[in-house]
Amino acid sequence: MTNKIKISPSILSADFARLGEHATEAVKAGADYLHVDVMDGHFVPNITIGPIILEKLRAVTDIPFDTHLMIEKPERYIEDFVKAGASIVTVHYETCPHIHRTVQQIKNTGAKAGVVINPATPINVLEEILPYVDLVLLMSVNPGFGGQSYIETTTDKIRRMRDMIERVNPAIELEVDGGVGAQNVGTVVQAGANVIVAGSAVFNKRQSVAQNITDIRVAIRQAIS
Ligand code: DX5
Ligand code: ZN
Repeated sequence: MTNKIKISPSILSADFARLGEHATEAVKAGADYLHVDVMDGHFVPNITIGPIILEKLRAVTDIPFDTHLMIEKPERYIEDFVKAGASIVTVHYETCPHIHRTVQQIKNTGAKAGVVINPATPINVLEEILPYVDLVLLMSVNPGFGGQSYIETTTDKIRRMRDMIERVNPAIELEVDGGVGAQNVGTVVQAGANVIVAGSAVFNKRQSVAQNITDIRVAIRQAIS
């Protein structure tokens, strides 16, 4: 398993009127990726941002954009997101009947390819695609909104996913998304995740973005030392 645990702050919980500033704060505080939640109002109830905003954000930072597509027929937009600056493109298993083809399409753009599953989707559907992907994302909330509570049964799912990754393709990054913060990140990394998405835990207004990221880092260090 990769030793370095990466933090991918989700800009969904940032102030969209100050998106550039908020993104820069997270980068300065040592974020490894920026998690960009793209929602279409069909696959998930919410609507967020598209390639135009991503391109604007690309102008303020060169941090890798970890782009989570919660959209139907994502294959229609993959090239647009990569052109706009996406570094990793992650598509939902639930939206891709021909996921092998979609993963190849992502790889052909030069971006890294990720596959994500919803909380109630079993991990075994991923087994055949693992040799072809760079990242697996497990949702620990039902996608659509920031600020939801972590679904506790995800912890065991992370363990089982980590075992499958070690067996089939150990180079894959294992990312977890939803309801993760300093209070539970220890459990999540101990179970085997190595990329942590955190939205409301990073961009809440209780304290600075930098302090929130530090708190998460400290909790990770305590859990893996
Ligand atoms: C939910 C999104 C998440 C969300 C996480 O649909 O995929 O990335 O922003 O937000 P928190 O960390 O607040 O649960
Ligand atoms: Zn996400």
